Parts: sequence; structure tokens; C-alpha cells
Amino acid sequence: MTRNTQAILPLTAHRSGPINGRARIPGDKSISHRALLFGLLAVGETSIEGLLEGEDVLATARACTQFGATVKRLAAGSWRVIGAGLGSLLEPTQEIDFGNSGTGVRLVMGLVGAHPIEAIFDGDASLRKRPMGRVLDPLSKMGIEIVEHADGERLPIRLKGARDPIPIVYEVPVPSAQVKSAVLLCGLGTPGETTVIEREATRDHTERMLEYFGANVTVEPHGQHGRKIKLKGRPELIPRKLRIPADPSSAAFPLTAALIVKDSNLMLEGLLANPLRTGLLDTLKEMGANIEETSRREESGEIVVDLWVHASSLKGVDVPASRAPSMIDEYPMLAVAASFAKGTTTMRGLSELRVKESDRLAAVAAGLAANGVEHEVKGDDLIIHGKGRVAGGGKVETHMDHRIAMSFLMMGLASEKPVTIDDSSFITTSFPGFTELMRELGADIRE
Ligand code: S3P
Repeated sequence: MTRNTQAILPLTAHRSGPINGRARIPGDKSISHRALLFGLLAVGETSIEGLLEGEDVLATARACTQFGATVKRLAAGSWRVIGAGLGSLLEPTQEIDFGNSGTGVRLVMGLVGAHPIEAIFDGDASLRKRPMGRVLDPLSKMGIEIVEHADGERLPIRLKGARDPIPIVYEVPVPSAQVKSAVLLCGLGTPGETTVIEREATRDHTERMLEYFGANVTVEPHGQHGRKIKLKGRPELIPRKLRIPADPSSAAFPLTAALIVKDSNLMLEGLLANPLRTGLLDTLKEMGANIEETSRREESGEIVVDLWVHASSLKGVDVPASRAPSMIDEYPMLAVAASFAKGTTTMRGLSELRVKESDRLAAVAAGLAANGVEHEVKGDDLIIHGKGRVAGGGKVETHMDHRIAMSFLMMGLASEKPVTIDDSSFITTSFPGFTELMRELGADIRE
């Protein structure tokens, strides 16, 4: 059964006792997609431990098989990919369905770009609404033909890759790791040097993995907050062994729950601490969160830590726009934390939130309104006037968006009246086992 036909499942979160225990959060979604795709491009066997088995990543795994890779699941989280090899991807015989996954579809568009094959890309109703022009623009500059697309450069899209793609110097107009990665993945199969410039540094998992798999990539600072990435095309990629750290964007939910539910003490193990992903942690610490780091180490080219999180009284803060790329997926959860804080939290420069799995700025504002949280949306800024308590009692529309669903369930664990979400079925896109794990930690979540 695909998720498009999956039953809608409302859930209600009730005021709960402390969130206590140790938790290992599933693998990082961004790194999991990339691990599979690099496995597809390397000739030989790539072994992956801790792969996220969420719907989004499983769609990418299926796409890899459509391009000729052998993808095997040996045990929970333990996967092997026998690659087709860069330059040798097969032409898919059927359209590729990426479900709810913007990362999967955009990265694979880049990959197809540098192969002389045609592919049809599609996804669910949420993904069909999301802008693809941001990826098609640079790819067409590299010689990729956009054969067909729906109105507004939306899915379904048919692309024809280039036999001789052209290396470009591309300045990404929006802060987006997906656009950067699509260009770099196309650059892998392009002769000469492909350069991507970003004015704001975004998550660098593609660059790190390029290096880990043996490509020649250099990264240098650009301007105040940006980076310039240069990649030499057509390297021989070496299959590698990868261990995927726990996803900080998923950890955000139990972590924030532990901060806002009285007397909580939670240990989170093996969490990815890449500095381009830690904006939420930095912000919560500024708000007064009691979070201790107990160890810091490196795994498969990424930094990993263990964290102890203790219930804390939070205060409102000003979150600058420059921090947005390092916490872009965490704003819905931060909005809930800010609702329980005392004082005003201003989150600036949230325009990219409007083009996620839902218009997250609108969905968060509606959820706050339904639960009696005083707030304002001014242009691209969200301002929350926290009172240290939340009335709750609202029903939240999730708009096929996993992060809206999980954030508002966390609100219900500490609000005075329960919070209901209209549909929890999309949570499996990024966090399989979320409800069960939260219940084990002490959350009162009911069907
Ligand atoms: C991702 C990049 C971000 C993020 C998404 C994952 C990635 O999207 O929101 O969940 O893995 O590259 P944008 O690049 O559109 O900001």
C-alpha cells in the first residue's frame, strides 16, 4: 500500500508525566538519501549501518534499483548497495515515485542530468505542489532537457539527461542544500570543474560524502556566511562503509518535549552535531535550555555527540535570519518551545518555510491559533508571545506534513488541554516508530 492510499490516523496528545530515559533516534534523513545515492554511483559494495527506514528514504532506495543498483536490507538499518557506477545508470522503465520527498526527487534529478537517459519524476499531492524550477534552472544550464512538466514547473516532470553535460559556475539564488546537491551530483558526471556558490552555507553532507567516496572537492569561504564549492567531474568513486548518525531534526521532538514537560531527564545517543545542523540546539541554549553534551566523536566523516536534556524554564529570544539554514526543518518545533517560554521569541527570515512539505509558516500559525498561543506573522517573520503556559484544546491541520504533526503532538504533552492532530500517517516519512518511542519515554498519546 502506498501512503497516498494509507488511512488517515488522527492522534491526541495529553498532558504527560516526565519524559525520561535513553533514546536512539533513527538515522539522519539527509545523510541516508545521500548514502544510497553514492552507493548507486560507486562500483562495488557500499555498506550502510543505521539507514533511516522512513518512507522518503525507502523511495530513494527503490529509485536506486530502477537505475540498476542492487539494494539489499540485511537487518534493521543495515543495508548494502551494489552500485551501477557513475556514467552507467540504466534508463528507468517506469516513472519514479518519490512520495513526499523533496530531497529524493531533487537530488536524483541532478544525477540523471549527467547520464544520457530519460526519466519521469513524480510524487504525492504535497510534492506535486512544491517548486522544482529551482533545480531545473541550473540543470538546464548544464544541458539537461526538460521534456515535459506540469504547470509552474511542478511534478510530474520528464527529464532527458545530457550526453555531454556542461560544467557551470552557479550561484544558488535561495539557501538550499537540495539545489546545491543537485548541481554537484550532476557535476560528478560532467567533464571539467563544476562550481557552486552559496551566499548562506547550508548543510554540507553532499560535500562531505563526495570527499569520503574519493571525489576531488574543495570548499572555501565566500563572503560573510557563504561557501564556494568546486568539484572535479568524472572521478572514480570508491564504495565505502557508512554509519549514519541519529537525525537531529527528528531528535528535536523528544528533545523539546523533555524541555517543556516538568521533571524530565532524557539522554539522546549518537546524534549528528554537524555545525550546519545545530541551529535549534544553539537557540534552545540561548533560551535557557539545560542540555549537556557528554561525548563528541567522528563517524563516517560527520561529528556525533550524546546529549542529556533536562526540563528547563525557557525565555523568549531573537532568532536571526542568518541562522535559518542551520535549523530550517526545526522551526515548527521551536515555535512550540517558544509558546511555552516566557517572553517574546522573534524568528526572522522564514520565507523558505513556505515551500516545504506544507506552507509551514501558515500551518504553524494556524496550529498556534487553534491552541490559544498569542503570535503574529509579519512578512516572513514569526513572532510568538510566550506566557510560560499553553491552553491547548485545539485540532491541528497537518497538511501532509510530518513535522507539523510531530511538533503539535509535543505541544499537547505540556499544554493544559489535549492537542489533536488530524493525521499522523505522514510521520513515517521521516520518523518510523515515533509514537511508540514517545510513549516508551512517557508521552500520553492516544488514538
Ligand atoms: C535537505 C535540505 C533542506 C531540508 C530538507 C533536507 C537536504 O531543504 O529542508 O528536509 O537533505 O538537502 P532545502 O534544500 O530545500 O532547504
